[in-house]
Amino acid sequence: MSEMKERFLKDYKKPAFEIENVELVFELDEDMSLVTNSMNFKKIDANEKNLELDSIDLELVELWLNDLQLDDTRYIYKDEKLTILNVPSSFKIKIKNKIYPQNNTELEGLYKSGDIFCTQNEPEGFRRITPYLDRPDVMSVFTTTVIADKEKYPVLLSNGNKMQCHDSFDGRHGVTWVDPHKKPSYLFALVAGDLGSISDEYITASGERVELNIYCDLGNESKCYHAMQSLKESMFWDEQKYGREYDLEIYNIVAVDSFNMGAMENKGLNIFNSAYVLADADTASDANFMGIQSVIAHEYFHNWTGNRITCRDWFQLTLKEGLTVFRDQCFSADLNSAEVQRIEDVKSLRERQFVEDASPTRHPIQPKSYISMNNFYTATVYEKGAEVIRMVHTLLGEENYRKATDLYFESFDGQAVTTDDFLWAMSKASGINLDAFKLWYHQSSTPTLEVKEEFEAGHYTLKLKQVVSDAVDGSKQLPYFYPLKMALLDAKGEEKVSKILTISNEYEEFVFEGFDTKPILSINRDFSAPIIVEQESPDFLFLMKHDKNSFVQYESAQKFATATLEAMMQGEAIDESFVEAYGHLLDLERDLSYKALLLELPTVSSLMQRQKEVDFEIIYDAKEKLEKHLAREFQEKLLALYNEHHYPKSETIDALNMGQRSLKNRVLKLLSTLESPKIVELTKKQYKESLSMSDRVVALDILENGDAKEAQVAFVDFYEKYKDETLVMNKYFALLASSMREGVLQRVELLQEDEVYDAKVPNLVRSLIGSFSRNYKYFHAKDGSGYKFVAKKIIEIDSINAQMASGLAGAFKIYNRMNKTNKELMQRELENILSVDTLSKNVYEIISKIIK
Ligand code: BES
Ligand code: ZN
Repeated sequence: MSEMKERFLKDYKKPAFEIENVELVFELDEDMSLVTNSMNFKKIDANEKNLELDSIDLELVELWLNDLQLDDTRYIYKDEKLTILNVPSSFKIKIKNKIYPQNNTELEGLYKSGDIFCTQNEPEGFRRITPYLDRPDVMSVFTTTVIADKEKYPVLLSNGNKMQCHDSFDGRHGVTWVDPHKKPSYLFALVAGDLGSISDEYITASGERVELNIYCDLGNESKCYHAMQSLKESMFWDEQKYGREYDLEIYNIVAVDSFNMGAMENKGLNIFNSAYVLADADTASDANFMGIQSVIAHEYFHNWTGNRITCRDWFQLTLKEGLTVFRDQCFSADLNSAEVQRIEDVKSLRERQFVEDASPTRHPIQPKSYISMNNFYTATVYEKGAEVIRMVHTLLGEENYRKATDLYFESFDGQAVTTDDFLWAMSKASGINLDAFKLWYHQSSTPTLEVKEEFEAGHYTLKLKQVVSDAVDGSKQLPYFYPLKMALLDAKGEEKVSKILTISNEYEEFVFEGFDTKPILSINRDFSAPIIVEQESPDFLFLMKHDKNSFVQYESAQKFATATLEAMMQGEAIDESFVEAYGHLLDLERDLSYKALLLELPTVSSLMQRQKEVDFEIIYDAKEKLEKHLAREFQEKLLALYNEHHYPKSETIDALNMGQRSLKNRVLKLLSTLESPKIVELTKKQYKESLSMSDRVVALDILENGDAKEAQVAFVDFYEKYKDETLVMNKYFALLASSMREGVLQRVELLQEDEVYDAKVPNLVRSLIGSFSRNYKYFHAKDGSGYKFVAKKIIEIDSINAQMASGLAGAFKIYNRMNKTNKELMQRELENILSVDTLSKNVYEIISKIIK
């Protein structure tokens, strides 16, 4: 049970040793690899007698202290610690150990993705490579030599600048890399393989030339250009917006197929899930192109926010991730449509983070404890973390924020720091006291703001009440401090007042004078705070027609639709005033991507969040009924819009073309609810003729959820065309596992036998099993078959890759909100999972929190 140990932020202790430099030699081979690790240590705490290194599953070959080889009386290797007894105040340690990358299915430490050797060390993977002080506040300078067979592994990469190459007589070669920047071990990386690549260069603002390379499997080179373009755009943006330049001669990115996450910011050698690098018009959707741009930017931005200034301990994760997500969101907003970007970011926050923040696994953006750190790379730490930085930005204003980030970089460069250090810089440079703001780092749950309005004799009074729910342990939480953007509009939609209010107490009252008639409130503009607003009787119709704040306009359309659907769920008839308003939206002359968002009805998930006890069937029914009604009512207009914006031969990835595709696909999907042969024909035609993957995926989805025969034909065609393109096959599996058609579970079970499927590749598992677990209809099947299947998969996959298994376990987070029958069915499976005695701490931590 030592494995299940809970770690606490309050127990933080400074490291007792520093490592002045590290020299690593890797001798890579097919069955076993040898690591030689030489480190110079200096004692910081003179009272510390022994050196305790982190070390998981390592086979020691030799251990040296200065010039003395140690026998096992001088060290203890037990419970993932290698303790070297009685060390002097300054000394050298040399360790030789064996590792087996080809057997590493956890994909942490050094492992093989296909024929490529690669690493993933955040947060605690380095201890699976060699014994080390594997914590982010131990920063050192690394020199790495990689030796391997020259024919099989012509490309040998590590962090920093390339120093030396040598060939030996036995067909092997070696390359030495020197990284001059101090870094923690989680940023160490190594890659060896027979790789294709594209190259380019970037000249920094101060005139330094940087060599840029993107490596991939041979044959995929032509799919790397969008990633390269995105990298150059990121480098330029960080110079312009934050005054941050790149600091090595070379920037390498490697795309691999087996990767637990999206991508990793290793210094000078980013390693990416190939899904976030490779794209061309034939195989990638518009969303894939956008995703690549933002992930490339995110990892690049970490060079300053994460690498040069890193986290003191893993409880500070949001210091680098929240800030870097905020930075990549702003980057995407600047390069694309800011209004669409903001809505997409809020949508994602609500669908992922709000759900998490209302679940038994909820936690502050700075957690107080963890069992497995891997479980804390959450939507809360990332996306709510980004909202918290955004609030700082709003409170300080653009100019002060820039002064404050300059001060942050200047004060802490080369250090491992805390979120308090960050807030110190924000406050110091701006003169704004942020003490009260700190609560956002230490409390969980989404706060609600209850809004009441009074109007009397020209005085408009805004009465606000903050409602803050209890923490997960039942303790009371306090009201927050945040910026609330608002405006008061007159009957023509003109802004009479436009302000950023500061909210800090449980009750707040603001009075505005000089109105002839009651103004209309536009609140939480741009979603200035991550809260839930509850308003008594807002004028959605007016706001969706007249608000110039595109976020509130969108929000009002969503809220109007939500109210309409919820009334229908209570058995009421369709509100014709909503139908009329929807017609108004169809006529709007706006950016097409934005218009596509306006026309989207609220997601099932967003409606579920508002139910006391989840009942997605009545949500599906109401949505289907409303969609059919809208499609019937506006059939002509919708068809006209479709025809106006459908250009099957366009494969251009620009705002206009992507906007056209997203609008016409939204329209086609709505029309498909009519189940008319004409629309089926249109859909088939789109599948056959369109050159865009977005168009084809939408067509497949519509056919799959409509005409069975046509779906069958199209899916066979799709499979035959793309069975060798693993990234496209992810879409194939996801579409089939998300289907509403009868027999999905049986199909998913069969698809596991498909030659393309591989339970060791996270992308494929997420596409097939992950998508199924989000298919409410079949996951929550009344006979318990969905739960049973997913539970069985969690147990199976746990023994392959614990991080992947605990990701799947998230499907059960909804447990406490289910009806009695489903709850009992779920409980049986949850207990079943907990009874596995080899269960990983990752899965244990998630499931035990859910069931408690
Ligand atoms: N540092 C993370 C990668 C990571 C995540 C390492 C979890 C170890 C465990 C990286 O910067 C990151 O945040 N990647 C995201 C994508 C990003 C655009 C939000 C990811 O991998 O999902
Ligand atoms: Zn990150």
